Amino acid sequence: MRVARWLGADTPEDEHVDHVLTCCCDGPTVDLGCGPGRLTTRLLRHGVAALGVDVSPMAVAMTRFRGAPALHRDLFGRMPGTGRWAYAILADGNLGIGGDPVRLLRRTRELLAPDGVAIVEFARAGTGVVVDRIRLECPTRVGEWFPWARVGVERAESVAAAAGLRVLTTATVSDRPIVWLARS
Ligand SMILES: C[S@@+](CC[C@H](N)C(=O)[O-])C[C@H]1O[C@@H](n2cnc3c(N)ncnc32)[C@H](O)[C@@H]1O
Repeated sequence: MRVARWLGADTPEDEHVDHVLTCCCDGPTVDLGCGPGRLTTRLLRHGVAALGVDVSPMAVAMTRFRGAPALHRDLFGRMPGTGRWAYAILADGNLGIGGDPVRLLRRTRELLAPDGVAIVEFARAGTGVVVDRIRLECPTRVGEWFPWARVGVERAESVAAAAGLRVLTTATVSDRPIVWLARS
C-alpha cells in the first residue's frame, strides 16, 4: 500500500464516495481506522458528532490537525461509547483491518447501539475473501508487514451474517461498493 494512497488525495471520485459514506449519518459516528481524518472532518462540518480512531500516531495527528477529534487506539481495545454509536464507518479497504473480516464486523457490532448501522466499503465483486499481509511504502522507508483482508461485495451477506449483521442496502460509487449493515 503506497503512502500517497493512504494520504488519500481528494479526487472528484473520492469526494463522491466520501459523500455517500457519510450522507446518512445523523447521529454519533465512529470512523474506524480514520487515517488522515477526511470522513471525521466531513461529518463534523455537517454538524454530526464524530470521532476518528486509529492506531497510527501520524493519522491521529493529521486528523486533529484538520480540527477533528481522534483517539490513538486499537479499535479492538477499550473504546468510548461501546454499544452506543449510531453509525460506524469502515472505509477505504478498512474491512481488511486485522486480517479477519468476521472478527472485525463482530467488533463493529459491539460498538454500535442496538439500532446502529455499520457503513462498510467492500472490494469489487469477484474478489472473494483474500487474507494477506501488506506493508506501507514510501520512497525512503518500508514498514513492517501486517495482516490485511479484502472481501468482495458478493460475500457481504455471508460475512455479515457470520458476525450477526444483515445487509440493509448496497450502492456502488465510482466502482467502489458500499454496504449498510444492521443487527440481524
Ligand atoms: C486504508 S487506511 C484508511 C484510512 C481512512 N479510513 C480513509 O478513508 O482515508 C487504514 C487505516 O486503518 C488504521 N488501522 C489499522 N489497524 C487498526 C486498528 N486495529 N485499530 C485502529 N486503526 C487501525 C491504519 O493505521 C490506517 O490509518
